Amino acid sequence: LAGTTELLLSRIRDVPDYPEPGVMFKDITPLLADPEAFAALTEALAGLAVRHGATKIVGLEARGFILGAPVALRAGLGFIPVRKAGKLPGATLSQSYDLEYGSAEIEVHAEDLAADDRVMVIDDVLATGGTAEASLRLIRRAGAQVAGVAVLMELGFLGGRAKLETALEGAPLAALLTV
Ligand code: PRP
Ligand code: MG
Repeated sequence: LAGTTELLLSRIRDVPDYPEPGVMFKDITPLLADPEAFAALTEALAGLAVRHGATKIVGLEARGFILGAPVALRAGLGFIPVRKAGKLPGATLSQSYDLEYGSAEIEVHAEDLAADDRVMVIDDVLATGGTAEASLRLIRRAGAQVAGVAVLMELGFLGGRAKLETALEGAPLAALLTV
């Protein structure tokens, strides 16, 4: 849609030195608070999911839930939460990944993904790519296929796209904005 990029960009707030000195935080709350911008974002991400033949939307806790749920509804697809460890009550698959200091772990309900599913992963930001890469491992370990990864924003200087390349196995990584 014409003007979508500018609209989205104009609703992302740069917050210097958050959460620590030297980091420029990309705050999407002004975008979420603007129904026109939120709708344009949802429309764009849902269009990607449909175009790439997704059958399910995976949202990455927490900000990927806010974006992924309306995208799933708009695209007419089911929504599957990938949660931080310890939050899902059923039988889960777990995947740990490295952070700058230490590691983190995410989980999915194994029964939510089937062999004939093509999964589109939705998140707000691709930074180092660790979170998205771990989610792709979960999807493949569950036996499902990867339709792609779609994010609002890619922080190009952190190299997340290169980190994801192997796990994508040729599936697309789409970023509406690259900063
Ligand atoms: C942020 C962001 C992405 C992730 C990107 O989530 O929402 O999910 O980091 O970083 P990466 O590419 O280096 O993995 P975070 O876990 O900080 O918190 P959230 O619960 O607010 O989404
Ligand atoms: Mg996140």
